Amino acid sequence: MAPVVTTDVVVVGSGPAGAAMALALARLGVDHLVVTRYETLAAEPRAHITNQRTMEVLRDLGVSDRVEALATPQDLIGTTTFCTSLAGEELGRVRSWGTDPHSQAAHRLASPARICDMPQNLMEPILVQAAQREGSRIRFSTEYLGHTQDDEGVTVEVRDRLRDDTYEIRARYLYGADGGRSRVAEDAGLPMRGEMGVAGSLNIVFRADLSPWVAHRPSVLYWVLQPGSDVGGIGMGVVRMVRPWDEWLTIWGYDVADGPPDLSDEYCRGLVRALVGVDELDVEILGRSAWTVNHMVAERYSTGRVFCGGDAVHRHPPSNGLGSNTSIQDSFNLAWKLALVVRGEAGPELLETYTAERAPIGRQVVDRANQSIGETGRIFDALGVSGTDDPEVMRANMAARREPGADKQRRALREAIAFKAYEFDAHGVELNQRYVSAAVVSDDLSPDPLATAEDPELHHVASTTPGARVPHVWLAGHGGDVSTIDLAGHGRFTLFTGPGGESWPASELVRVVVVGPGHEIEDPYGDWARLLEAEGIGDSGAVLVRPDHHVAARFASLPDDPATTLSTTLQQVLRR
Ligand code: FDA
Repeated sequence: MAPVVTTDVVVVGSGPAGAAMALALARLGVDHLVVTRYETLAAEPRAHITNQRTMEVLRDLGVSDRVEALATPQDLIGTTTFCTSLAGEELGRVRSWGTDPHSQAAHRLASPARICDMPQNLMEPILVQAAQREGSRIRFSTEYLGHTQDDEGVTVEVRDRLRDDTYEIRARYLYGADGGRSRVAEDAGLPMRGEMGVAGSLNIVFRADLSPWVAHRPSVLYWVLQPGSDVGGIGMGVVRMVRPWDEWLTIWGYDVADGPPDLSDEYCRGLVRALVGVDELDVEILGRSAWTVNHMVAERYSTGRVFCGGDAVHRHPPSNGLGSNTSIQDSFNLAWKLALVVRGEAGPELLETYTAERAPIGRQVVDRANQSIGETGRIFDALGVSGTDDPEVMRANMAARREPGADKQRRALREAIAFKAYEFDAHGVELNQRYVSAAVVSDDLSPDPLATAEDPELHHVASTTPGARVPHVWLAGHGGDVSTIDLAGHGRFTLFTGPGGESWPASELVRVVVVGPGHEIEDPYGDWARLLEAEGIGDSGAVLVRPDHHVAARFASLPDDPATTLSTTLQQVLRR
């Protein structure tokens, strides 16, 4: 069978990973074709927390304004509440997603972008429509069936599900963003480690006005402790805001050994009413699904010309809200590398740095998300309800904490709830990604402060250490204030230098930004200069930032021959 179409990259899937890859490739001018199984995009809200790093990526991809316009903003998502039902007893709260005043300051210092809540069924259309506007070809109702690869490229077999016929696409590269049951990853023989189906969970999407029980403590998550809420699931029952305050989703566990219950209207309505705690609540059921908690990661993200990203290579529960964030970031890491290799500006070995850089992140995310489920057990322990689902025993043990002498129990509960910051405010997990690979030139200018940080999971540590994301600093341009993050990216390398560094050479591939008095970009607060000085980089030195905002290399001062130094460094980074 002769291929019906040829292209540079075939993308399988139009979820967060596939859609972000399509948009990034389109903006980079790489010819590509997306095939996706269904006629429509995700109908369920699924992933939602969209962290600062992802919002930075979306700024680069030109869609952050559209996302912000539809998302629920940070101010309305952070009063994570633990209760016996929404109308029942409140057990405690934890300020989340950067809404604690200390954390809020850390968020504002770390990034030009704000965390927000963006349901997946609203995110996917924004990415896909923007990709189409930029030139993506997207084939809906088209299923990936298999592939073969040779020295020149990949032949991908697909089925048109409307006509029920198959055809072949010939491409230079294949990107499998086909989710948690990835056939591309399987066909590519990616080595997977871990376990699928660790626990069972139900999603019930519903419409109901819950404002009487939430308006005074606005949040995306209300955690409900009731008999059975420690069985399966993600630690407890959850009532999750989809749209404030009339569209919601409940998450409730089931024992995987028994399989999911019959999700009849009656069952779904009963569960919703029990978690809200209002027997006669007017509920319209919008959707229902059963899914499993997984703890699975690929040890390698590619085989030859076939790459995978998103849930295809890391499968984990929604705890910490990292699912689609990590998927979008995978694609952002790989897209510029594919573009430069396809254009012949980088050697194919650059693509091998994708696994080296993203697999450790995937492993950390999968472990962190699963660990967060276990840590919810501390709340059950503190309340004295572990190991029982007898409502009377639970009620009596929980009531004991009201007694004057129950200081120890009250303290234990306070601490157990506060400890959940590792799930709901893990700023470091979101932003401290460090890449170690052949596309990063390490140096000994200054040690990475992350190595000695007090709590790198909770706190962001800014550094120009090669491999780190370039720190965000507000600088001033003629058009107004601009972040270092926004100056970088957009498919090019960016070399930040200062007075005395004017002779670093700019090119098509490298934008040179001279920061200093009298230059196009100034540093009126002195924050950038202060940061560089502390890290051993003088004014004429430089920080070379890759198209994905991560530092490729840095230089203490202007070398004798900056053109040769830069070209040698780029040759090393780009493997050419
Ligand atoms: P994703 O699964 O989103 O997309 C895969 C794409 O590939 C789809 O477009 C699919 O149609 C396509 N595809 C699959 N096989 C194909 C084939 N053979 N041929 C062509 N196309 C194919 N996360 C979270 O953080 N919070 C949450 O509450 C939830 N809730 C949730 C509920 C349910 C029911 C699910 C299934 C998942 C979640 N998640 C979640 C996880 C989150 O949705 C997930 O991490 C991201 O969607 C991953 O994005 P990907 O693009 O990698 O895969």
